[in-house]
Amino acid sequence: MARLVPVTDAADPRLTDYVRLRDVNLRKSLEAEHGLFVAEGEKVIRRAIGAGHPVRSLLMARRWAEPLADVLDGLDAPVYLADDDVLEATTGFQVHRGALASLERLPLPSVDTLLTTARRVIVCEDIVDHTNIGAIFRCAAALGVDAAVLAPRCADPLYRRAVKVSMGAVFALPYARMADWRNGLGALRERGFELLALTPAADATPIDEVKAAERRALLLGSEGDGLSSRWLHEADHRVRIPMDGAALARGVDSLNVVAAAAIACYALTR
Ligand SMILES: C[S@@+](CC[C@H](N)C(=O)[O-])C[C@H]1O[C@@H](n2cnc3c(N)ncnc32)[C@H](O)[C@@H]1O
Repeated sequence: MARLVPVTDAADPRLTDYVRLRDVNLRKSLEAEHGLFVAEGEKVIRRAIGAGHPVRSLLMARRWAEPLADVLDGLDAPVYLADDDVLEATTGFQVHRGALASLERLPLPSVDTLLTTARRVIVCEDIVDHTNIGAIFRCAAALGVDAAVLAPRCADPLYRRAVKVSMGAVFALPYARMADWRNGLGALRERGFELLALTPAADATPIDEVKAAERRALLLGSEGDGLSSRWLHEADHRVRIPMDGAALARGVDSLNVVAAAAIACYALTR
């Protein structure tokens, strides 16, 4: 049974894993230093533990101890119980979902290992927004993608907001991070993957005309500039989801990357 430990002071050093959860820079360095990440909400915590991430601790309002009793029973980690005002003062926001867990990251596989058995993969270049990376993982996992490969600068799928938006899909979809952006697509090519670069460019091939190979990789670009010209040139095909003519005339020239990922994953995993 986990140890239930009441805490009353937001400055308690035992709560360090949970401080200022919205401060991206602080969180990046703190989580890298300790190899941890934070999961929020009952379902997501269950999925993170189910995926084998060792638990460092939990922090929650007292009312969450009961719904999570079966999880807590098997844990050998402290469970800090706090009032809402202490939770808010520690984390920097109102924790509506009431329960937080600090968990250990697991070592990621190499890109090569990941690609051994995968057939359909997404490759995210420099996705900046954690909400987007979480939602992309959720779409990909739901639509039959086998794995994700991330460029070195792509946002962290285990950042709290990404984990939350993915509803735990970041634990279901295996992923690896390229060590090197410049030659990163080479590993996919060596494994026989056809590289399909998703771009709204008017001269790209409409997605419903693409006859994709057995092993295919969908390349997704960043929210601002899209895919780098290097990756666009390296791809076997540039593929577009045709935009509505009237929308184009009104200046709506691309989809949000999550919407594009959902449509492309659906079309190219059939
Ligand atoms: C917001 S868009 C970037 C827009 C950028 N101006 C460009 O030209 O790529 C982010 C990513 O979503 C994907 N995307 C957005 N709209 C698309 C479309 N109509 N067809 C294919 N991919 C699209 C691409 O991978 C793109 O790199």
